[in-house]
Amino acid sequence: MLREDEIDLLLNDLLKLYGYDFYYYSRESLKRRVSKILRLEKFNSFEEFRNRILTDPGYIEHLVDRLTVNVTQMFRDSDFFMELRNDILPQLKNLPQIRIWHAGCSTGEEVFSLAILLHESGLLERAQVHATDINPLVIEKAKKGAFPLSLLQVYERNYLNSGGKADFSRYYTASDNTAVFKSYLTDKVVFNTHNLASGQVINKFDLILCRNVVIYFDNELRERVFQLFDGSLLTGSYLALGEKETLKSFSITPRYQQTGKEKIWKKIR
Ligand SMILES: C[S@@+](CC[C@H](N)C(=O)[O-])C[C@H]1O[C@@H](n2cnc3c(N)ncnc32)[C@H](O)[C@@H]1O
Repeated sequence: MLREDEIDLLLNDLLKLYGYDFYYYSRESLKRRVSKILRLEKFNSFEEFRNRILTDPGYIEHLVDRLTVNVTQMFRDSDFFMELRNDILPQLKNLPQIRIWHAGCSTGEEVFSLAILLHESGLLERAQVHATDINPLVIEKAKKGAFPLSLLQVYERNYLNSGGKADFSRYYTASDNTAVFKSYLTDKVVFNTHNLASGQVINKFDLILCRNVVIYFDNELRERVFQLFDGSLLTGSYLALGEKETLKSFSITPRYQQTGKEKIWKKIR
């Protein structure tokens, strides 16, 4: 297991040399992940690993990919997508343009899920979607919209459980063990790298989805990220978090009201 001073050196190098701020991630899980990288990639010592970071900028993308947890699914937590479909999207239907931010979108499964909901609700044409993640490798994958065919059975079940009624296979073309989702679903999506810890504002949004991302942050970074979201949401807009995440006990909390059973909040003032 890594020592405390070694993890400090690593975090300092990543921030100073490459602008990646991992200071506010849960220490224990970072330590576990870095120790695993050292073991699997057969570094003989922490010094050898650090030397690679200092001398090989090309290694950093790979390292960020390993440090971040990119697990995702289409229609993950089907009850959440059911509430989004039945209760939230209808509230947005009179807007001339629907601006959506998927923050921490990983390889894009969530983006394609929402695009299908928007399509089925007749709102896709008016949607402007920003899909961002700190990890450039997952963003490249997300842009392709190609997922292993072996996962599609689970994704189809999730889709049906979330209230989907269509033939799911009409949304993709299958070939060579890969399902490539139809490009009209993401014509309006801009995929970009963006680090939530940077505090950089992208735009104003009617709906922000940031699911299963802040769970890896400490409370200080959560507070900063929620302030960033607050500054990016108009009154009457929505913020959606993951199943194990909450907006309770932050400075912006009094301005938000949970809309139903799922982790979706409306900005009320
Ligand atoms: C577990 S995935 C969640 C994916 C998707 N939102 C979902 O719920 O299925 C977490 C994602 O957050 C991204 N992430 C972690 N730290 C981030 C940061 N500081 N800024 C932006 N994205 C970040 C990771 O790269 C990863 O792709």
